[in-house]
Amino acid sequence: MDLSTSFMGLRMPNPLVVSSSGLSASVEGVKKAVEAGAGAVVLKSLFEEDIAAAVGRTKPEISESHPEAESYLQQMGMLLEPDEYLSFVESSVQLVDVPIIASLNCYSANWWVDYARRIEKVGANAIELNIAPLATNPEMESAQLEDDLVALVELARKVVKIPIAVKIGQHFSALPQLAVRLHQAGADGLTLFNRYYRLDIDIEKVEFISGNFLSVQEEFAPVLRWIGIVSNLTSLDIAASTGIHGAPNVIKALLAGSDSVQLCSVLYREGLGAMAAIKKNLETWMEMHNYSTISDFHGLLSFKKRGDYYHRLQYVKALK
Ligand SMILES: Cc1cc2nc3c(=O)[nH]c(=O)nc-3n(C[C@H](O)[C@H](O)[C@H](O)COP(=O)(O)O)c2cc1C
Repeated sequence: MDLSTSFMGLRMPNPLVVSSSGLSASVEGVKKAVEAGAGAVVLKSLFEEDIAAAVGRTKPEISESHPEAESYLQQMGMLLEPDEYLSFVESSVQLVDVPIIASLNCYSANWWVDYARRIEKVGANAIELNIAPLATNPEMESAQLEDDLVALVELARKVVKIPIAVKIGQHFSALPQLAVRLHQAGADGLTLFNRYYRLDIDIEKVEFISGNFLSVQEEFAPVLRWIGIVSNLTSLDIAASTGIHGAPNVIKALLAGSDSVQLCSVLYREGLGAMAAIKKNLETWMEMHNYSTISDFHGLLSFKKRGDYYHRLQYVKALK
């Protein structure tokens, strides 16, 4: 079986990617991930707040920028000063022979542009822009939110030449149009979807608490739908993320047209060894279906090929 594939023009020995997380927050973590069989690694994000703090400006209010940042920083003991992040990227690239994708969590344009340039300079193979806008202001129109996102990607495209993936959350009403616009703005890939920090409430203490920071498998269903709809729309490559906990969901993501598949919660729960089992089960499935390469079945069940199954959200055919 040949599991090799490519994502945003980067050759990968297999489609499994370790997601940006605490697992990819150190050179040691990256090394272990690759030894365990990762086809690529997205490094832990450098948050705009860290860059802002490092350049001595006022730290923005977390709630107004990235609700996820503070919790991630606390939970994962984040992390590195921006300059340390650059040497982390450099060492990771030098150490392993699979693509290393650096990650920036950004919102406002000013802070991170210089770092994007520097990340490219130290050799990152690609960059994933982790963009997490939160609409809390009733005067903010959805079109404005999307325009901002597109403008940010346009800016990123101007400052770096390496491939850019945009990682977004699920809450867009017209994702196909947004995908086309992001592509026109210069994105090479789209990571669907980020799973943000979950807000929960302790009803005894009547206080906010952190929700479960790992996903459950059932969260994959909407991911699958949107991958199917958005893949093949443009030449934008798609990375699947959220709720992929085993070979079945990896296979589904590839059938729907995903070009790579990111794993996070499953690796936290089961360890990095889960990747070997997933690859083995993927190969067994391919053998049973007489597929010898990923491209033999990639996108077979995408919207482009099987649009009739995607047209309605509530339709009996989909339930059969
Ligand atoms: C502890 C933890 C830290 C994370 N940190 C980041 C991060 O820095 N940047 C990012 O883009 N996503 C981050 N994520 C989100 C994951 O990359 C992934 O998109 C999400 O967990 C959904 O995938 P899963 O269902 O396989 O867990 C983090 C997730 C976890 C659990």
